[in-house]
Amino acid sequence: MTTAERPLVTTSTLGLGRSDSAATLVRAAGAQAPAAPASAEATSTLSMHSMHVERLAAGFGRFTAVDDITHTIPARTITAIIGPSGSGKSTFLRCLNRMHEEVTGAWAKGSVRLGSEDIYAARIDPVQVRRRVGMVFQKPNPFPTMSIYDNVAAGLRLNQWGRVPTLDEKVERALQQAALWDEVKDKLFQPGAALSGGQQQRLCIARALAVEPEILLMDEPASALDPIATLRIEELMRNLVRNYTIVIVTHNMQQAARVSDRTAFLMMDDDRAGRLVEQGPTDEIFTRPRDKRTEDYITGRFG
Ligand SMILES: Nc1ncnc2c1ncn2[C@@H]1O[C@H](COP(=O)(O)OP(=O)(O)OP(=O)(O)O)[C@@H](O)[C@H]1O
Ligand SMILES: [Mg+2]
Repeated sequence: MTTAERPLVTTSTLGLGRSDSAATLVRAAGAQAPAAPASAEATSTLSMHSMHVERLAAGFGRFTAVDDITHTIPARTITAIIGPSGSGKSTFLRCLNRMHEEVTGAWAKGSVRLGSEDIYAARIDPVQVRRRVGMVFQKPNPFPTMSIYDNVAAGLRLNQWGRVPTLDEKVERALQQAALWDEVKDKLFQPGAALSGGQQQRLCIARALAVEPEILLMDEPASALDPIATLRIEELMRNLVRNYTIVIVTHNMQQAARVSDRTAFLMMDDDRAGRLVEQGPTDEIFTRPRDKRTEDYITGRFG
């Protein structure tokens, strides 16, 4: 995918939408244009950072939580997954790095490709998938007994990179990328759990980035944070998307409009399975949704 093909969310395109409340919502949110890839070299590896989901179904025991999801996540974009509670957003996200199967009785069918590789193929090690597709959760979850430094180094050590002489550099780089370095550089050996909620969440982002993933999955990463910490996380995401592909689940429509390039709307059908109702460039979803259910959801009529 070239830069020119990347979806643009600009205030001017947003202004072309209908003057209904969804369009107003997006304009008020002031969505930004996505960042361009960092370099020509980065562009050449774009396909590595994309995901292709085909006919994905997943559930728990006899229950189907998500069904028939076919969806492409382009490299170096932010995709927002929105939808009512219980529509399968977290389940879908957890299928993208094989975390879903960690729940007893959980199952998944269909295919999920990272670049050209099927992450569910028999020869693929789920631990390696999770290194390439990192995850940040709703509640910041730093390892409570570990220092800030060790929290970031943990994934590197787990991947047996611990003996490399550049561990300090890798920890610093991850903390820089997560926009936390300046706040913690003088207290790296204090407990991670002693940081503020917003700092803990950035620490978890640093921990995820330290192992140099291609994709970063974020499940409501700012829902426990105050508005300022939330904006810092969003700003951070816009910087990270130069080098990473990000998928974020959010209940916050302004956040989806502000931060994402593309949006996918999930909703459960009568059988309670979540299905993809509509997906596309964020400005189109928020200003000219094709499906009435999308419009009702983003304008707050249900969910
Ligand atoms: N461990 C589990 N065992 C059985 N059913 C589960 C489990 N986790 C989730 N479910 C069910 O799967 C469906 C989808 O849940 P999921 O957590 O993916 O929804 P969600 O869209 O992320 O919701 P929310 O917005 O509330 O986080 C729900 O009906 C839920 O009850
Ligand atoms: Mg969820």
